[in-house]
Amino acid sequence: MRKIPYIDLIGKISLAAQKREFDYLRPMLNGKTALITGASRGIGKGIAEVFAKNGCNIAFTFASSVEKARAFEAELSSAYGVKVKGYQSNAADFKASEELANAVIAEFGKVDILINNAGITRDTLLMRMTEEQWDEVMNTNLKSAFNLTKAFLRHFLGNKAGSIINMTSIVGLTGNAGQANYAASKAGMIGLTKSVAKELGSRNVRCNAVAPGFIETEMTEALNEDVKKSWIDTIPLKRGGTTEDVANACLFLASDMSTYVTGQTLNVCGGMVMQ
Ligand SMILES: NC(=O)c1ccc[n+]([C@@H]2O[C@H](COP(=O)([O-])OP(=O)(O)OC[C@H]3O[C@@H](n4cnc5c(N)ncnc54)[C@H](OP(=O)(O)O)[C@@H]3O)[C@@H](O)[C@H]2O)c1
Repeated sequence: MRKIPYIDLIGKISLAAQKREFDYLRPMLNGKTALITGASRGIGKGIAEVFAKNGCNIAFTFASSVEKARAFEAELSSAYGVKVKGYQSNAADFKASEELANAVIAEFGKVDILINNAGITRDTLLMRMTEEQWDEVMNTNLKSAFNLTKAFLRHFLGNKAGSIINMTSIVGLTGNAGQANYAASKAGMIGLTKSVAKELGSRNVRCNAVAPGFIETEMTEALNEDVKKSWIDTIPLKRGGTTEDVANACLFLASDMSTYVTGQTLNVCGGMVMQ
């Protein structure tokens, strides 16, 4: 067992207490592998950082940010000594998702955690929303989760283990003017999560959703200051969330700390929505 100075200092306490202390300090995802879609920036990147810090090998995808992804790959593996590989893969494409899953399983041997995080917005009032804007958002945000879950299904069932985390949004619970496409895709994600949890629970495959509120990323940078302020005013904790806030919720749901939790939606929104 790795020696931890803090445990040496408290050497007089019982062995059981020492072991509890060690378990607390031990990385929570040691030796596990996660595939995270859309991790070249924003929330996905934050999840990859927190997971790597916790001993997890990381496969991640991106749509077009090749340079950013390559730099992140190198940075993460040298900082935490875990295996990291980025794949340019369109999560909205069924066949590409199948090919991705095969490539990741071949490279890493085993995948324990799937995070369906890739997402986009094409905000406008319904009156002006085009069919393309509707389809693009539904395909990237919702169909992508179907694609990847299908692609990893046999692998998880064969292993009799797996944790799937779907990135939804509180607007999937509340609705939002100007985001009919986005809110519908995120509400769909919650229905998908519950159905997958019911279908796969008997094989020890869990599926949960995380619903961030207002998180400060490039997606929310696009909003003007007045809109941002009006969001923040409605948040009991009076601040936007960080990518680390969301990543820590995912860490709980990915780890063995949550082995009896499935089919749930965990809101990470500073109290903006309470259920
Ligand atoms: N930010 C928030 O406040 C907030 C709140 C609630 C929910 N969410 C959800 O959290 C997730 C991440 O949001 P974010 O704010 O981190 O977004 P972001 O900063 O815009 O990053 C989006 C990520 O998804 C990737 N991506 C986009 N389309 C893709 C596709 N078709 N296939 C594969 N990857 C794709 C992007 O890759 P490239 O870099 O190559 O484009 C990027 O890595 C989304 O599902 C979003 O709906 C965000």
